[in-house]
Amino acid sequence: MSTPGPLGAFPAVRPRRLRRTAALRRLVEEVRLSPADLVLPMFVREGLTEPRPLRSMPGVVQHTRDSLRKAAVEAVQAGVGGLMLFGVPEHKDEIGSGATDPAGILNVALADVRAEVGDATVIMSDLCLDEFTSHGHCGVLAPDGTVDNDATLRRYAEMAVAQAQAGAHVLGLSGMMDGQVAAVRQALDQAGYPELAVLAYAAKYASAAYGPFREAVESSLRGDRRTYQQDPPNLREALREVALDVAEGADIVMVKPALLYLDVVRAVREAVDVPVAAYQISGEYAMVEAAAANGWLNREQMIMETLTSIRRAGAQIILTYWAVEVAGWLRSRS
Ligand code: PBG
Repeated sequence: MSTPGPLGAFPAVRPRRLRRTAALRRLVEEVRLSPADLVLPMFVREGLTEPRPLRSMPGVVQHTRDSLRKAAVEAVQAGVGGLMLFGVPEHKDEIGSGATDPAGILNVALADVRAEVGDATVIMSDLCLDEFTSHGHCGVLAPDGTVDNDATLRRYAEMAVAQAQAGAHVLGLSGMMDGQVAAVRQALDQAGYPELAVLAYAAKYASAAYGPFREAVESSLRGDRRTYQQDPPNLREALREVALDVAEGADIVMVKPALLYLDVVRAVREAVDVPVAAYQISGEYAMVEAAAANGWLNREQMIMETLTSIRRAGAQIILTYWAVEVAGWLRSRS
């Protein structure tokens, strides 16, 4: 690989040739983000009269129904691929009644957004009980206080039909109950929604990085979710979860968190042929914003690098709270 010269051996093969100019670098880029890859998670809070900023997620708010509609329109104009809606009810109870009530905040907000933007983007809804339960768990509890898997599946089935009626295009199953994809698929098919797609949070880890989200949804959780979310050391287990979800009918599978689990994203990409999504979660957002606010790193470069890395690892869809801002950067570059 070297040609001898007067000063000794010089390399003949020089990868730096393709890095000389910005145009050369752009030409040989292996992955490239576009606005349509990005999905914006949004929070809507019952009973608000003004959008409420979140302390631990600077730049993110709990929306009123009205501000949600406006923000949805802006996101569509920015060209994002989809919206993922989370509802925060005024009142919570043991079984999360607000989740299945057609007048519950998430269901009315889904209907609002669907009426506002129609099919111009993909409207997704979080399908989980934690925002709605007084104990903050993702399911209903058995008398002994543990999360009752199969009783929870019955609630998810009802919730799925309510969200379908409200106008969601894709249901995001984030509760990590066994059999949740099959239960929801069956409920949707029986209720006359065979065309509705299911995005399974197939490999969702019990992460400390959900912290800011718990502020966003005013979670009442004490304790943790370790009996249903996955343990961080386990990769093979993620592949097993993903295989089950695909077998149960998942149309899209997701890994979550994203940046801490890039090896899982890659392994899942290689294991399945359905689209793979990754969720850049609240704590990933908060870490970058906090460091940037201190002047410790370049915010825009850091954000782009995180998203590019998630893409390179194999996620074709990325949920990120920066979706609209990044879509703007991408459009001004192209
Ligand atoms: C469950 C759900 C959570 C997130 C998305 N869906 C919270 C949890 O599992 O504790 C977290 C998203 C984030 O941290 O940005 N409804």
